[in-house]
Amino acid sequence: MTLDPRLFADGPARDARFTVREVWSEMTNLAEDDPRAMAEFLHRQMNEEVNGLEIAARNLADFPDADWELRLAIARQCADEARHVDMFRRCFEARGGRVGEHPILNFQYRITTRIESLLGRLAVQNRSFEAAGIDAIQDGIAQAAEPDLRELLDAQLADEIQHVRYANHWTAVLAERGGARAAFELARAVGQANRALAIVAGGAMVRYPVDAELRREAGFSDGEIEAVKEFPVRL
Ligand SMILES: [Fe+2]
Ligand SMILES: [Fe+2]
Repeated sequence: MTLDPRLFADGPARDARFTVREVWSEMTNLAEDDPRAMAEFLHRQMNEEVNGLEIAARNLADFPDADWELRLAIARQCADEARHVDMFRRCFEARGGRVGEHPILNFQYRITTRIESLLGRLAVQNRSFEAAGIDAIQDGIAQAAEPDLRELLDAQLADEIQHVRYANHWTAVLAERGGARAAFELARAVGQANRALAIVAGGAMVRYPVDAELRREAGFSDGEIEAVKEFPVRL
């Protein structure tokens, strides 16, 4: 399947081990009680963390004039995401998995790097995808029985809250500084990402319960938490 280049940038490079798919319905989507489901989830998540690293790295490369403190936060995110990739790989391989064994999706990278402004990218990647990730991780912690998985998710959660939090801070700063033009950029970025995500997801959007306390810790206002309760999206 070919995706609309107005909504999706080119995908990131992957070596010959990987089979890259474009939309959710082309993935190996196993039933929750399938014995291979956990390994497949860990593999998919590992690649999603690679996407997180690649997006943050692209933000550093594409916006060299951004505020130094913001660039520092993005650089720290790169280090965190690289650590998450390793953690997921460890858990996956501990369960007998082999990298490349399952197909992968790079929709986060393709959707986010299509957005032209840093403000828009932070709004989509950190404040939407990663914020939905916080809810999903919290849900995973409640269900994870194996100690290595619990430890992984606990460590990841603390980092992801920080990624959402710095984005909440800096989108407010950049929006205030940019006035009407920034408001337009923000609206366009979010609209574009929503259209693209709907194409990737088809009818398969998963809705996790929104954890209000964690969202507050990540810098969302009560009004924003109420609003997002209606639109919690995660693939
Ligand atoms: Fe991560
Ligand atoms: Fe993250």
